[in-house]
Amino acid sequence: MNSIKSIRLPLVFVVVLLFLSASTFSSRSQQPKDFEKQIDALLRKMTLAEKLGQLQQLDGEANGNFRPEHLELVRQGSLGSTLNVRGAQKTNELQRIAVTASRLKIPLIFGFDVIHGYRTVFPIPLGEAATWDPAAVERSASIAAAEARAAGVHWTFAPMVDIARDPRWGRIAEGSGEDPYLGSLLARARVRGFQGTDYSAPDKVVACAKHWVAYGAAEAGRDYNTTEVSERTLREVYFPPFKAAVDAGVGTFMSAFNDLNGVPASANHFTLTEVLRDEWKFDGFVVSDYTSVEELMKHGVAANEAEAARAALDAGVDMEMVSRLYNKHGEQLLKDRKLSLKTIDEAVRRVLRIKFRLGLFAKPYADPARESAAIFNSANVAAAREIAARSLVLLKNDRNVLPLDKPVRSIALIGPLADSKTNMLGSWTGDGKPEDAATLLVGLKAKVPQAKINYAKGCDINSDKDDGFAEAVRAAKESDVVIIAVGESAEMSGEAASRSSLDLPGRQLELVKAVHATGKPYVVVLMNGRPLTINWLTENSPAILETWFAGTQGGNAIADVLFGDVNPGGKLPVTFPRNVGQIPLYYNHKNTGRPPDANNKYTSKYLDVDWKPLFPFGFGLSYTRFEIANLKLSAPRISASGQLIVSVDVRNLGPRAGDEVVQLYIRDVAASVTRPVKELKGFQRVTLAAGETKRVEFVLGAAQLGFWNQQMRYGIEPGEFMVMVGPNSEQLIEAKFAVE
Ligand code: NOJ
Repeated sequence: MNSIKSIRLPLVFVVVLLFLSASTFSSRSQQPKDFEKQIDALLRKMTLAEKLGQLQQLDGEANGNFRPEHLELVRQGSLGSTLNVRGAQKTNELQRIAVTASRLKIPLIFGFDVIHGYRTVFPIPLGEAATWDPAAVERSASIAAAEARAAGVHWTFAPMVDIARDPRWGRIAEGSGEDPYLGSLLARARVRGFQGTDYSAPDKVVACAKHWVAYGAAEAGRDYNTTEVSERTLREVYFPPFKAAVDAGVGTFMSAFNDLNGVPASANHFTLTEVLRDEWKFDGFVVSDYTSVEELMKHGVAANEAEAARAALDAGVDMEMVSRLYNKHGEQLLKDRKLSLKTIDEAVRRVLRIKFRLGLFAKPYADPARESAAIFNSANVAAAREIAARSLVLLKNDRNVLPLDKPVRSIALIGPLADSKTNMLGSWTGDGKPEDAATLLVGLKAKVPQAKINYAKGCDINSDKDDGFAEAVRAAKESDVVIIAVGESAEMSGEAASRSSLDLPGRQLELVKAVHATGKPYVVVLMNGRPLTINWLTENSPAILETWFAGTQGGNAIADVLFGDVNPGGKLPVTFPRNVGQIPLYYNHKNTGRPPDANNKYTSKYLDVDWKPLFPFGFGLSYTRFEIANLKLSAPRISASGQLIVSVDVRNLGPRAGDEVVQLYIRDVAASVTRPVKELKGFQRVTLAAGETKRVEFVLGAAQLGFWNQQMRYGIEPGEFMVMVGPNSEQLIEAKFAVE
């Protein structure tokens, strides 16, 4: 495929490319220190076995221990890294062997999945994305980094920046949703939070952008499935959050499990070398996903282990996670001239570079004194509560059922998720402990201690039994108001957790209907790792609060919102469909030649369901009302290298302070290739006192208005653009401008 360097570019495109590459460097957090001479010296001393050893990562035990065989492997220089080994004492024990007993004393790098918290667990990434608040997301990552590093972990396998347009795919829970712009800002925020400006600091870790690439495009939403994605869609939808991570200085990447356009991501020279190394100048290393090198045989692109090792290393996978084919076959491949020493040296250089940047040669050990002070301290727990509250999305609130009155006498708390500690934490729990989690029952007891809480589970999350319904109905009848917590279990999303139905599992909807029939006022609290098809609830339930899996402090944060101590301001980072048949359904789709028209049969729609989603991307309500008006553009036309300032007034019309996320979308009306009907290009979450008005400004320029043309060159084409601003992707006010 084309590499953009080799093409003669027209003027507009050249200007834009210069602009983009300039911004790439200025937005890098810091120019990393130069360790190349030290790396050269080490490479000269290393045997081939020691080199291959640096490229090997092995798994520890689930409890954080290393495995007995690691001791000898480390001693002989045959292991460069582990995953899951954690805790200052355990990591120090293994590290001591590496830096005192191995010949070259090269330190180990300890990796771990610190996805949304280490011990203090924050909302799942999809929930954090619903904050639409990069500063909050950066803070969460920064706390996770401080806890992890104190426990001897140097490297997190996060952020997961896969764009996901299919909620059947369980891993949608681990990313920032469907939008490349929101995804890019949050990728940058997470990299900054984890790494800071210098990840050798005692409270930082090196980050890993994963899963490179298009893993979220799995056919039919089935995890690990095949992907077919055009280069344009890769560049416009799936690549941008990865590029944002590179621009923020991310140290590592993880190659994905999926095959992409016929070439597995873990043997894909185009994505790993041509794009990542050559075009984007990424100088860190790529680790394979768990056994994804070995899996090249099952993919059918390698006939045996040696071929799999060669394909992955040659394509640009520097470190092998768990399978051991580089080490088993590297020497023979070299002898047979199927692999060059240069390729191996380059991979080793990249791994060593990150170890140097982490400061591991100078300071290989974790400080046990830091461990107890840094982990799960009260400041971290308070931050988890605050960020969790910011991630909640109010989907419905008829006649202001919410917020509830604090002087309430009795509350029925119903549902299988109302008091489930394990499920609060979501699918990746790091070193989080269920016993740390505040459930909704805990949160309510603390929030309204005087109220009588009639708790009834009602049913399990996923069973066909309804023998708890009678008790739940009784609890509802005996109470002034009802809160029902329903949704998915934590393990129904995340890896290997695809679903073909997005309905509430088991008998939960019937439980809600039974409570509904009592006529009591009630609120539905949803906990889930993906959009659900909640049509009945949307039509019939008075209020719905989407809470994802809100983490250690989830129950307290939900109580803060239910009783109005926090006014909800989160917005959906992903579209909620009406049924599975609508999938993939995303806001930034193409117009088609026959856009949907209710009065014309021969247009793009369904016979049996609306073409529109149940809740659009960007949607979320508040306890107050906002108006967005007075859309102004700084000019009616700009040049291709110019800038446009877009501004609106946002006003709080209601009686209490609240947050609105002002969202800006653009549309390129006619171009040489079809363009999405709208694309998010700016947003700001603003807090307004009752009655307050603020002017919000956005800047549009080359980086926001360009696209990849038919020759796969990036640039802006002259012509008309629409600008749309509003509180979600559907309620928008519009203006037009032209690029000359
Ligand atoms: C497999 C998952 O796909 C990846 O996200 C994770 O980082 C590794 N396992 C390591 O646990």
